[in-house]
Amino acid sequence: MGALDKNQVDTVRTIAALREKVAEWRRAGETVALVPTMGALHEGHVSLMRSGQDSADRLVVSIFVNPTQFGAGEDLDAYPRTEAADLEKLAAVGADLAYCPGVSEIYSDGFATRINVEGLEDELCGASRVGHFSGVATIVAKLLLQAMPDVAVFGEKDYQQLLIIRRMVRDLDIPVEILSGATVREADGLALSSRNAYLTPEERNIAPLLHKIMLEMADALMRGDDAADVVAAARQKLEKAGFAIDYLELRDGGTLAPVTGKITGVARIFAAVRLGKTRLIDNIAIKGR
Ligand code: PAF
Repeated sequence: MGALDKNQVDTVRTIAALREKVAEWRRAGETVALVPTMGALHEGHVSLMRSGQDSADRLVVSIFVNPTQFGAGEDLDAYPRTEAADLEKLAAVGADLAYCPGVSEIYSDGFATRINVEGLEDELCGASRVGHFSGVATIVAKLLLQAMPDVAVFGEKDYQQLLIIRRMVRDLDIPVEILSGATVREADGLALSSRNAYLTPEERNIAPLLHKIMLEMADALMRGDDAADVVAAARQKLEKAGFAIDYLELRDGGTLAPVTGKITGVARIFAAVRLGKTRLIDNIAIKGR
């Protein structure tokens, strides 16, 4: 442990070392932000780190590819693991600490506890990725309890995850403020994601159509078109472009309840699609008239 020079980020791999570092800052009266990640860091993560830095004196970034949030047959083994490059990015951003535990540090023999955020975890991505959000809630609760940060920052790209974490933190009285960061996009609109690395060049050309079609949906909904018609037309466009649709839905941004008819208030369009082997998700807010 310990940074060798200012071009490296201080890195710890155990809960004890993490707690020791955080306690040192606490004794000095400093506040702490945590940005939990699974690595393969991109500009979306960097923007979350910047808001962590704006909100607290010290920034901890965790890098842990959490096995319990991957279902059977999902991409746990293929998930990009780029620790050396990630640590360089953390040094460039000026993070104070990288927390990179191994699986056995997080899940000891006989580990038997799971957190379920009922209702929210079954919707949208939860319907096709059974157990995914229970894995997310469990690891996030553990990371929060390990680091005990003042604030923790999560991206709005994983909007359902964000709602689930906020609910869990309220329900379990975990003393942390959850902040969210807007989705960061490529110039052509594709939401940044570590999984974009799976796209072939041909798929990469098609992928931005997801966001484009969602923006067209938003325009139609804000003009007052009926939600069911707008969704049906968008589904056709997506399928024609080569996407296999997992879901494309209009939901309430607070409860995830379905929104139908003409949109008069605020709502969100949520999409999950597959392009070849890659699963892409996106969501945008809309405001009806
Ligand atoms: O959003 C992610 O990268 C993960 O789901 C998280 C929050 C780091 C938990 O493993």
